[in-house]
Formats: sequence, C-alpha cells, structure tokens
Amino acid sequence: MRKRMSLLVGAVAVSVALAGCAGGNAGSESTSDSGDENQVEVFTWWASGSEKVGLDALVEVFAEQYPDIEFVNAAVAGGAGSNAKAALASRLEADNPPDTFQAHAGAELSDYIAADQLQDLSAFYDENGLTDVFPESLIERLTVDGKIYSVPSNIHRANVTWVNSSVLDKAGIDPTKAPADMDAWIADLQKLKDSGVESPLALGTEWTQMQLLETVLLSDLGAEGYSGLWDGTTKWDSDGVKTAVDHYSQLLGFVNSDYTGLDWDAATQILIDGNAGYNVMGDWAEAAFVQAGLTYDTDYTTWPVPGTEGVFDFLADSFTLPVGAPHEAAAKDWLTTISSAEGQKAFNLAKGSIPARTDTDASEYPAYQQTAISSFANDTVVSSLAHGAAAPIAWSADISSAVGKFGSDKDSDSLIKALVAASDKAQG
Ligand code: GAL
Repeated sequence: MRKRMSLLVGAVAVSVALAGCAGGNAGSESTSDSGDENQVEVFTWWASGSEKVGLDALVEVFAEQYPDIEFVNAAVAGGAGSNAKAALASRLEADNPPDTFQAHAGAELSDYIAADQLQDLSAFYDENGLTDVFPESLIERLTVDGKIYSVPSNIHRANVTWVNSSVLDKAGIDPTKAPADMDAWIADLQKLKDSGVESPLALGTEWTQMQLLETVLLSDLGAEGYSGLWDGTTKWDSDGVKTAVDHYSQLLGFVNSDYTGLDWDAATQILIDGNAGYNVMGDWAEAAFVQAGLTYDTDYTTWPVPGTEGVFDFLADSFTLPVGAPHEAAAKDWLTTISSAEGQKAFNLAKGSIPARTDTDASEYPAYQQTAISSFANDTVVSSLAHGAAAPIAWSADISSAVGKFGSDKDSDSLIKALVAASDKAQG
C-alpha cells in the first residue's frame, strides 16, 4: 500500500508539472488529486465548440448515474488529437496516466496495447454483457489476441462532403446531386469558381488535408484497393495512387489560401458562412451545422465524397483503462456510462456520430445520422487513415508530414516517394 501511495504522489507531481508546461491548453481543467477516490480524470481532445458540447452531454449522464464522482476534464485542444496524442504520450511515458483516455478503434489502439499501456477489459465486457451490444466489426478493432481493450462511445464517418445548398444553387449547380466521380466534382468546383466563389472547397490544417487525400484515394482505388494500402496488396506507387495524387493536387487549386492555419471547425465555418460550396469532413461537422442553426436538406446537405458511394469510411472513438490508472473503480464507472444506451444516445445526438450500440432506434436520430446509420449497416466499411483506424500512429504521422509538405511544394513525385518510404518503414 505504501509503495502504491508513493507512486501516486509521484504521478501527481508529474501531472502538475505537465499542466504547468501545457500552460495555454484550452479546456484543460485538470486538478488531479489522486488521493480522492471519488474522481475520474478523463483525457480527450474534445476541448471546445461542438465537440465540447458532445462531451458535456456525456458528463451530464455520468453525473446522473454517478453523482458522487467528480469528473475531471483533462482535454487537450486540437482536432483529431493533433496535440492531445503527443501530450498523452508524454504522460504515459512518465507513468502518469489519466484514469481513462480517448483512443481510436483499430491500429491506433493496437499501438497502446503493444506498448502494454492498457488493461484488458474482457472481464468488464462479460460483467456488463457488452459483447453482444456492439457490432462484430467494431469489437474486432478493439481486440488483440482475444482480449478487448476499450469501450466505444460512437462511430463516425469520414468520407462525407458537406454542401452549402444556397451557394451551389446560386451557381446553377443542383446541391442534392452528388457528382459521379472526382472529375465530375472538379468540373463543378470550376463552375463554382467561375461564378465568383473564390475558394469553393473549404480546407484546414495538415490532418484535414490527410483526410481529404484519404477520401480521394478511396474514390480512385475503390474500397478494396484502398484497404490494400494498409496490408501491402496495393502499391503506393501504383497508377491508382498516382491518379489520386493528381486529383488531390487539382482539388488544392480550389481551397482557401489560409488553410494551413485552420483547425477543422474554422474550415467548416467557412462553409457555414456561405463562403465555400463544399467541405470534406467527418460527421462531427454535423454538430457544428446544428449549433449554427442550419437545417439539413434545406440550408446544407451531404453526400459521400464523389466516387465513394456505397462505402463507409469508418472511425470510432473509444475509452480505455490505462495501466496504473489512479482511480480504477471510477474509471470503470465512466466506461459503464459510455457503454450504456442512455450515455450513447445523449453523446451521439450531440456529436453528430452514430451510437456504437446496435440496439438503437434510428428514428430517434436526426436526418443526417439516419443516413449514416443506414450506410454503416449496409455499405462496405473501410478504415480511416486520419483517425487512427487504418494505420499505427507513427505511419500516419509520416503520411501526414508528406501531405503537409505537398501543400507547399506541390511536387507529386516527391509525395509518392514519401508515401512509398512511409509504407516501407511501417510494413518492413
Ligand atoms: C476525430 C475524433 C472525432 C472528432 C474529430 C475532430 O479523430 O474521432 O470524435 O473529435 O477527431 O476533432
């Protein structure tokens, strides 16, 4: 016991030191006091705007279900975990884990498992009867060597084009009709530009560029070809990848000039404000449209990124129980809230995502989410690159840097070389 106490004191010291370094971390309200059993420190990147609203909805259900446990918010701002993942890595490295942290289902989760940073939650699944309430394809992405390591809160779709209906109407383009493929979409982007819309396609910082490229790869390679990128069966210097890079390069000709400095919410806001016609973003954007007071199918609409009809580019957020979590019992209570039908409903209604639980009544969800529920159930599901499902953190970081560099040099050959090198490094 004494040994455990001194470890905990050490952990608090590191926590305080890190909090001091982080300084301006928006949303970080961490006041972790490991001595108090009735608290749970939850680490996410849902620090502001519509994402924070989603987290708040979950916290509200947690407060109803566990009124005696204090929720300690350790969120680190930055879309897609662009800052959070590095901050978390430092904490784990320093043996100062939060009680639970957000991690993407799939390859990203496997990274933490391989590093022995997560506890096996198989018994928790059994005790709470969870094995049957989540879809098999999702459970597979949470399982390594037969053990399940996290509890999913939601499923997001990444290959969504958000469309400002009146901007398209004004240019004589039917917003409800998705272009058949990349070439047809690029023709519409040109039409929009010719009509006076300076930047028809809203784009943001590096990870949003990578997400755009991922959807173009999906469009040009198809679901099977795209999935083959992650197991070596599709070559990164194949003609299909070259075509995708060429299309991606053409798309960059239509984006806002300040894109490198904008997180996803600022990029999506350009569309909400009517200063662009399209934005490719995961369906957390739905929450931003709702909060701006816009109406689906009237003010804005969505379709799968052109050429990806019938494919659901999947990602899921999940919550873990780290090795050495200071408040293990409270962390399990948090996981129980997340897995509950009530927690999933409150969170997903606010977040734009769909519940991971299968015992869901689709009619209780708004129009956009109904399209996602139906697509996830019926379409081919592939794994998102930009959101941890397809590739381990190190590989996706290499791809992200290569894509960021392409934004300034526009050198297709060197992008392809970098993509090949990243794949060789990751796959040996
Ligand atoms: C994703 C995450 C979503 C959303 C998005 C933007 O990686 O899974 O829940 O937060 O980033 O930050």
